[in-house]
Amino acid sequence: MTVMAKEREQWTGRVGFIFAAAGSAVGLGNIWRFPTAVGQNGGGAFVLTYLVIIFLIGIPVMIAELVVGRRTQRNVIGAFKVLVPGSVWVVIGVLGVAAGFIILSFYSVIAGWSVAYIFKFVAGHFYNISPGLVAREFEAMTSAPLQPLFWHGLFMAATIGVVLLGVARGIERWSKVLMPALVVLLVILAGRAITLEGAAEGIYWLLRPDFARLDLAIILGALGQVFFSLSLGMGAMLTYGSYLSRKEDIPGSAVYIALTDLAIAMLAALIIIPAVFAFGFDPQIGPPLIFITLPAVFSFMPLGWFFGILFFVLLSIAALTSAISLLEVVVAWFIDELGWRRPTASILAGLGIFLLGIPSSLSMGLWADVQVFGLTFLGLFDTMTTNFILPLGGLLLVLFVGWRWGTAKALGEIRQEGVAFTLGSVWAVLVRFVLPLALAYILVSSVIAAFTP
Ligand code: PHE
Repeated sequence: MTVMAKEREQWTGRVGFIFAAAGSAVGLGNIWRFPTAVGQNGGGAFVLTYLVIIFLIGIPVMIAELVVGRRTQRNVIGAFKVLVPGSVWVVIGVLGVAAGFIILSFYSVIAGWSVAYIFKFVAGHFYNISPGLVAREFEAMTSAPLQPLFWHGLFMAATIGVVLLGVARGIERWSKVLMPALVVLLVILAGRAITLEGAAEGIYWLLRPDFARLDLAIILGALGQVFFSLSLGMGAMLTYGSYLSRKEDIPGSAVYIALTDLAIAMLAALIIIPAVFAFGFDPQIGPPLIFITLPAVFSFMPLGWFFGILFFVLLSIAALTSAISLLEVVVAWFIDELGWRRPTASILAGLGIFLLGIPSSLSMGLWADVQVFGLTFLGLFDTMTTNFILPLGGLLLVLFVGWRWGTAKALGEIRQEGVAFTLGSVWAVLVRFVLPLALAYILVSSVIAAFTP
């Protein structure tokens, strides 16, 4: 390598970028977290709130992140140093890198369980087995000290392996292979689930909004879920935007990415909830829905082992393309700001995240009794980042774009090379007024609610 400044890597084109960004968005958030949240929050009311928040908050925030990234061609910390040198706004970037570290640390633990389940299905562990026995198998696996760490380590190694290869040769190339595979698996599974006898009740439950259940907790839950699922509020989209060329259409891409993410979350819920209903299980059980209820559901189906394998391959693939983007946020910072080489940055960041994941991994067994605010490490890391740090990052970002950098400059960046953005002025009003108020209101009232008995 020469000492000359290297040219920054870019996506090979718009399609590659959309695959990578949709890969980031579609993940455990869609297939594990969304159906669980829908199940716990009473079906349709949550789905409807989620929809409204995607369009009103999710897409505008995504546009804001992408535009800051593309304008500066920098990582999440460097971007603010370029736009407003020496200011405190860089805190958005610092929060982002910290969130990347924390989210990936527990994300990889859960993804590790998913990979482990592929092998369990292949080995026939879940053949004709009652929910009680699946629960025992799950508990035995997650409470063992070493086994889940092994899968967590394996998953992190795969993530590092892709990020190490670079933006176009690693992230983009793998997203282009994995995302179509994911869609195929999803369609097969959805076909299976909705043709099950008794599935209609589940579909009905999923789509019928029960407005009596709508309260602040549901709104905060849906908001956090939108940020998590669309990879917003911590610089993943900003970083991916920084590899985007000047001629690409940012608002158009944001809409594509968000709709893909939404469609896949809905499909996942349409697979899981009706299947759960068809076999008489309770959808409100929470996080074990995927790892306990679903394998039991599969074990009652003809060829269930086969669909079980497909499902956990799907979940693992989706998790991998998201984990890549989480790691890339940290790695891009090491490369841009600290001048590290990509391989060194990927390996060291990945190793640090693996270590930070150990408490989450142990939180199902050895450390189950160590609780903070009534949550285990894994629950704490998840709630803290999803419900607070990501929406807070989003709030600071819209304040920055709306009031410090300025929506006029942002619109100028978006409308280059003939890109039309007809709703530009609506976006500007949302970013300057509506979103700061809405996000501040939800965050502040939730914090107050959390601290009042
Ligand atoms: N969007 C990913 C998912 O749904 C998770 C993620 C969050 C990825 C934040 C990047 C940044 O699983």
